[in-house]
Amino acid sequence: MVFEQFATGGCQSYLVGCETSRAAVLIDPELSAIDRYLGLAAQQGVQIRYVIDTHTHADHFSAGRELGKALSAPLVMHRSSPAPHADMRLDDGDMLIVGQLRLKALHTPGHTQDSMCLVMEDRVFTGDTLLIGGTGRTDLPTGDPHALYESLFDKVLKLPPQTLVYPAHEYKGRSHSTIGAEMADNPRLQKTDRAAFVEMMQQLNLAAPTHLTEALRTNMTGGKSVAQLLAEAAAKTPFMSLAELNERIGGNSRDMVILDIREREAFEAGHIAGARHLPRGQLELRVNTEFPDPTVRIVTCCELGKISTLAAATLRELGFRRAVALDGGMQSWREAGYPLEM
Ligand SMILES: [Fe+2]
Repeated sequence: MVFEQFATGGCQSYLVGCETSRAAVLIDPELSAIDRYLGLAAQQGVQIRYVIDTHTHADHFSAGRELGKALSAPLVMHRSSPAPHADMRLDDGDMLIVGQLRLKALHTPGHTQDSMCLVMEDRVFTGDTLLIGGTGRTDLPTGDPHALYESLFDKVLKLPPQTLVYPAHEYKGRSHSTIGAEMADNPRLQKTDRAAFVEMMQQLNLAAPTHLTEALRTNMTGGKSVAQLLAEAAAKTPFMSLAELNERIGGNSRDMVILDIREREAFEAGHIAGARHLPRGQLELRVNTEFPDPTVRIVTCCELGKISTLAAATLRELGFRRAVALDGGMQSWREAGYPLEM
């Protein structure tokens, strides 16, 4: 068996492949690590046939949709997943065949309604249903402590005690556990009475995860994260460094337009010498009159260097093939001590 465990922060993803056929599955991939997964799959000589999300994640951005598209592999989720981009939906007991490997889905609602665990040979991928020394929380959308109790005590913990447990989260650097070890030591599993378990889960009072609304939005709808939108724009445009631009202002080379796309007050409080002002909100409306020559070289700048990237990518899409974005914004420009015009 080809088996690779990836930690991205506290998130755990797994690449599991069949040694003979070289077919593989990728479980719970995270958006920022796409290149790592693809690199390792290539290195291992396996082809990812299925991308699986054990549930709708609320705390990180799933790479399921992007990877599924890139690999022409179906994104697999539980039948009740709200994600419109899930290509293959599993019911309790359904099995995926990956070369000689067999992965069986257990529907284990509780952390979320669409949570599932995947049982394969000597191990189980528990998603956020069972963690090492913990369980998934039940206070986020579609969470239900009663359902988690049933999923754990009537399903997951009924697996043989020697079954290896690979969770979707682990914050202390442990790679795995076993069902037996969790039953013996996991503090949350010591409350074997349903009412006591539910009460314990209801009193956890956990802080909301960072990016909760954005992660839910993107994972439930297949929409993009803001970081993704920016990364896509950045991939479509070249940049100019602050130092390079500063040098070009000082010299005689003025064959370019510095386009400041901030709001008027910010522009008037201080801008790069000779910069033209055109707020981002008016860019598409005024671009035809402001830039009649599509061969003009345009350097976009904003306060933080992010919106200017979007603007440069938009200008390139509109045909301004020499549009570039400033690498950094006016904040960095001021911090670097470069001159301002008022
Ligand atoms: Fe989760």
